[in-house]
Amino acid sequence: MRIVLGVGGGIAAYKVASLLRLFTEAGHNVTVIPTEASTRFVGTATWEALSGNPVSNSVFDDVHQVNHVRLGHEADLVVIAPATADLLAKAATGQAGDLLTNTLLMAHGPVLFAPAMHTEMWQHAATRANVETLRSRGAAVLEPATGRLTGADSGPGRLPEPEAIFDAAMALLQGPSDFQLPLAGRTVTISAGGTREPLDPVRFLGNRSSGKQGVALAVAARNAGASVRLLAAHMEVPPPAGVDVVQVETALQLRKAALAAAADSDAVIMSAAVADFRPAEVSDTKIKKRDDTADPVITLVRNPDILQELVELRNGTAGQKQQLIVGFAAETGDSDGGVLAHAQAKLQRKGCDLLVVNHVGTDKVFGQDTNSVVILARAGSEPQEASGTKTEVSAAIISRIGYELNSVSPRA
Ligand code: CTP
Repeated sequence: MRIVLGVGGGIAAYKVASLLRLFTEAGHNVTVIPTEASTRFVGTATWEALSGNPVSNSVFDDVHQVNHVRLGHEADLVVIAPATADLLAKAATGQAGDLLTNTLLMAHGPVLFAPAMHTEMWQHAATRANVETLRSRGAAVLEPATGRLTGADSGPGRLPEPEAIFDAAMALLQGPSDFQLPLAGRTVTISAGGTREPLDPVRFLGNRSSGKQGVALAVAARNAGASVRLLAAHMEVPPPAGVDVVQVETALQLRKAALAAAADSDAVIMSAAVADFRPAEVSDTKIKKRDDTADPVITLVRNPDILQELVELRNGTAGQKQQLIVGFAAETGDSDGGVLAHAQAKLQRKGCDLLVVNHVGTDKVFGQDTNSVVILARAGSEPQEASGTKTEVSAAIISRIGYELNSVSPRA
């Protein structure tokens, strides 16, 4: 496919080199049109080398090819990243002062804007109106990511991650023109990894969760346009870029973080392996082995069930929009019933909307890169199977969550 990649004059222009790579590696023919201002951040030589195509931002270069008409006409897709406040304003008002704005006026295919600017500029009434105008004309304007901005401050205004822009671009190439990312404007809280319950300053009770599934879910939710809060218990993998991370260690810390983050989240996904019990006493000093005293006996007390508490709070808050709560269950079949029978009972007991069921054995799931799950819904729809890499499984779970959040019928 032929893609025109317009680069706006913002500091995030450097991230667009990764986006260009994703496009070319997927086999697309990309023509980059940088604005004059953007070449102060990234020079045209970078775009020429990475795209393999000539780069210009002037309507007076190669005039015999009538580039200001041809590029927009021929493009299967136009992507603007970073879409600055200035570029959004120019596009909304139909200005045509340079090659990129001419191309936007001539575009026959879908147009995708990936905004990046300071939070106050993004929230300014003028920018809101420009975004509305562009969307009403069928352009896809992504929500900027939330996080650290150029200065010390943070808020919505970061360029969405290149993978998120790429996913949106590919969906646009295939999908309808009134395209919107399924989780655009949504906030999703995801717990990941395994809690550690301390015995003394050097020892803990832990579990085998690697955090890979939770991290893959965070990436999929981010790529679907959500603002993601990742509550990270112990993980063997680093958290992804473009999500807000809260580090926790114990179940009690996770509970506190989850209740706080859930308060204004559209969906909460409890994929962390939470210890059901913790040592009743935590020694301030290292427990020593001594010949003159008896070996220690560890007494455990029960941790609160965070998922259940989230469900109770959600149901108890009058007037709040209905939040979607998703639990995970690692199950083994036994003499009392099969995996799905146990999972159905757990879904009803915990009261969450969706339960993602893993069939576990010692060789399955933990630390692996692939997974096979069944998604059960409390509302009673058919169990949905998803298998493949943890990335593929996460995409299926996130797409189901998008469907549940966006469907008009109320959840039972
Ligand atoms: N969970 C939780 N708080 C706990 C324990 C579990 O929020 N104290 C969540 C997990 O994150 C997961 C779901 O509950 O989403 C199911 O966890 P699981 O351990 O399978 O459920 P249990 O209620 O502990 O059931 P079981 O008796 O099978 O261990």
